[in-house]
Amino acid sequence: MNRSIEKMEESLKEFFGSQKLLPILTVDDKEVSEDLASVMCESGLKTYEVTLRTQASLEVIAQMSSFDNCIVGAGTLISPSDVRSAIKAGAKFGISPGITPELLNECEKNCFPLIPGVSTASEIMNAYARGYKILKFFPSENLGGVKTLKALHGPFPGCKFFPTGGINQDNALDYLSLPNVYAIAGSWVAPRELIRSRDWSQIRKIIQMSDWKI
Ligand code: 3PG
Repeated sequence: MNRSIEKMEESLKEFFGSQKLLPILTVDDKEVSEDLASVMCESGLKTYEVTLRTQASLEVIAQMSSFDNCIVGAGTLISPSDVRSAIKAGAKFGISPGITPELLNECEKNCFPLIPGVSTASEIMNAYARGYKILKFFPSENLGGVKTLKALHGPFPGCKFFPTGGINQDNALDYLSLPNVYAIAGSWVAPRELIRSRDWSQIRKIIQMSDWKI
């Protein structure tokens, strides 16, 4: 058993508590950080992901991490240098679309909790053999979504997933009824365009419809 991964996953469990929804935020303008952090926290979503897909992302992570009660994760981690940048910016955990030994080494070296992405049985076996039991399943809907996750529960009863990719208000509860779903993740909660236009009331409305989120 890998103690450091066990510790990393204990931290993830603490960060999520009973939260069942991980918002994925892609933010173009760091000036919205404070407002967006308030919307998330007031709506009961204290833990969220900011993707490393914009120029502003690291500054956004740094700013959002400085607010009380926010637990900010860095998403789209591809390389060891992404991991180092995310840690430096203040991210508490990371999420990756896939796994490479280099990426996992960097996270483990820094004891940086990671939700590694998998999309096949072999990738799950690789991650599990290394000690990871909490995994991102991506891109979920393209991979067969609920049906595929049900099938994966047979050989991998010890793994819990964050299905991601194509999740929305309509299929969320189907995913959450599965025994191997830890929580669902998605950008529909706070779409990039609504963040860009600072449409906080619309984002609040979307979140309010997700009354199962915590
Ligand atoms: C990700 O960043 O993990 C995915 O692009 C999110 O997928 P979604 O936009 O369909 O929620």
